[in-house]
Order: sequence, then structure tokens, then C-alpha cells
Amino acid sequence: MNAHVLVTGGAGYVGAHACKALKAAGYIPVTFDNLATGWRDAVRFGPFEEGDLADRPRLDEVFARWKPVATMHFAAISLVGDAMRDPGSYWRVNVLGALNLIEAALAADCRDFIFSSTCATYGDQDGLVLDEFTPQLPLNAYGKSKLAIEQMLGDFGASHGLRSVIFRYFNVAGADPEGEVGEFHQPETHLIPLMLDAIDGRRPALTVFGTDYPTPDGTCIRDYVHVSDLCDAHVSGLKWLRDGGESRAFCLGTGKGFSVSEVIEQSRAVTNRDVPVIFGARRPGDAVSLVCGSARARDELGWKPDRSDLRTMIADAWRWHQNGGFAR
Ligand SMILES: NC(=O)c1ccc[n+]([C@@H]2O[C@H](COP(=O)([O-])OP(=O)(O)OC[C@H]3O[C@@H](n4cnc5c(N)ncnc54)[C@H](O)[C@@H]3O)[C@@H](O)[C@H]2O)c1
Repeated sequence: MNAHVLVTGGAGYVGAHACKALKAAGYIPVTFDNLATGWRDAVRFGPFEEGDLADRPRLDEVFARWKPVATMHFAAISLVGDAMRDPGSYWRVNVLGALNLIEAALAADCRDFIFSSTCATYGDQDGLVLDEFTPQLPLNAYGKSKLAIEQMLGDFGASHGLRSVIFRYFNVAGADPEGEVGEFHQPETHLIPLMLDAIDGRRPALTVFGTDYPTPDGTCIRDYVHVSDLCDAHVSGLKWLRDGGESRAFCLGTGKGFSVSEVIEQSRAVTNRDVPVIFGARRPGDAVSLVCGSARARDELGWKPDRSDLRTMIADAWRWHQNGGFAR
């Protein structure tokens, strides 16, 4: 087959795992990334094109050079705290960046498009299992920027024949089971790597934000999905589009939520080490519980998230963490 797929953000956490999954499926992933939060050392499965989504001529050049059959769009800024302080960057980088990318893809006649969206487009809908039928009511500029891109994809579908698969991720966790790539954000904001840093002594302690939520143990509940399972869904989404499937949104999670305290307990069990914890106040903007209904992805894409049990996700992340991560 050996068709090229343009992977924006392929030097980042999810994008690097997606490149590995694409290569295993017989594609050549071409990473387009400005290395703002990604790592050159994470680009291991295909060519690298350094560039910024804001640079339309550079995008045109890359599409013309590789003639990709599809685009997988992971590149974004995605820190909820930042989005509250600096919404302008989220509209500029995420929304204008996606607009440039979509227009460049269409100009190159590359009409299949896969997009990383997020459960943050749902906002805080306490107690509900969130699926493709749930209204999207984002609370911050990050979630709003992602929803705007979803809507943009719909408009370009209607007017220009762009075909898209939108994946709304819940909490992505774990690392490549073969240890070639893993999670390394700087700054890190995700619970499991923060906790592994605390276990390892790379940070003094893990801060738990809020212990008085209306949940059985008072801490927030999230639905975790293994990054390799998530990337398998992307390969299935690509097949869906290339087989002529219609534009579709899919939620990716397991349908089972875990509280922060449960994740801490499981990490103690996996690592056999103590987790230094500081209990802090609630953080503005955190939803009480985000749990995914993933029946559509399972039924229509045949998705089987078989590494997404909490123990395996933490064990894979721990192995990656102990091996030292990417060259910086
Ligand atoms: N990690 C999660 O739990 C999670 C959850 C929901 C949604 N998402 C979405 O998945 C995608 C990937 O997330 P991640 O955790 O891998 O993030 P990441 O920060 O590790 O990767 C993003 C990549 O995009 C690149 N990038 C950013 N702005 C760019 C620009 N203007 N031009 C070119 N490259 C640019 C960065 O350098 C980085 O390599 C994001 O769109 C994010 O919103 C992630």
C-alpha cells in the first residue's frame, strides 16, 4: 500500500503513537510539527517536516511533496488552565491553524480528515455518560476551540466534500507496550505521569485537587483509555473513510470511570511504591465526572480497547517512565 498520511502533531504524545500504528498498518506517516510541545526524538516511524499550522505556504509545500491520501490532525495547544488565562491563543493556534490545514488539504485534493477532539467539548454534565448524542456545552476556550473545529469540518464537508472522522478522547493514558514512544509533556498536567514522577522522586508530591466532590470517595472521576487502543481506533477511522464511510464522530473511552483515589491505589499496587500526596482545594473548571459511552466506536468501527484496563495503562506508563523517555 505505502500511501502517505500527513500527521500533524506527530512529535507529540498521541501523534507519535498514531504514527507507529499507521506504520504497522502499512502507511507512511509524515509528521508535520513545530516542536512546541513535541520531541524530535519521538518521530521514529516516517519522515519529519518541521512547520507551523499558521504557515500556509509551508503546509502547501508539504502536501505537494508527499501527496498524502489523508490527514490526521493532532497538533494543538491543550492546557485547560492556560485556556482560562489566555483564550486568544486557543482560538488562534487551534481554530485558525485547523482552518489553514483544512484549506491546504482541500487545495491538494486530500479529502479524508481525522481530527482529535475531546470530552472537554461536553463541559460539566454531572452524572451523565457522555456519548455522540449528548449536547456539547464546552466551558473553556480549549473545549470551545475544539467544538468550533468540529463545526468547521461539517461546513467544509457540506461545501467542499471534505470527509471527516472526529474522535472525542476521554483521558488518554499509558505508553507503547514495546516502549518505543510514551508520554512526556512539559509542563505535565496529566494525573498518571504526574503521579509516576512523584513516586520516582522527580517531583515532591502529587497534588489532588478536591476531596469533597459528590463521588463515593470525594475525588473526581475520569474515564481512561490506553493510547495504543486510541490509535488503533484512528487506523480504523481511516479505513472507514477510505472504504467510503460517511463523516462521523466517535467517543473514545471505556465506559468505566475511576476516581483519583482509585488511580493512586492502583499505582501503589503496580509500582509497589508509596505515592506522596498533598490534598488541595478544588481547581476551577474541573468537571466532577467524565465517563464515555463508546458503543458507537465498538459497533461501527469494531473497536476493541483491550489494553485499557487501569492496571495495564499504569504498568505501560511506568515501564516507559523508568526507561527515561525521549532524548531532549
Ligand atoms: N492527551 C490527552 O489526554 C488528550 C485528551 C483529549 C484530546 N487530546 C487532543 O489530542 C491531541 C494530541 O494531544 P497530546 O497529548 O499528544 O498533545 P502534545 O502536546 O503531546 O502534542 C501536540 C503536538 O502538536 C504540536 N503542535 C502544537 N501546535 C502546533 C502548531 N501550531 N503547528 C504545528 N505543530 C504544533 C506540538 O509540538 C506537539 O508535538 C491534541 O489535539 C489534544 O487536544 C488529548
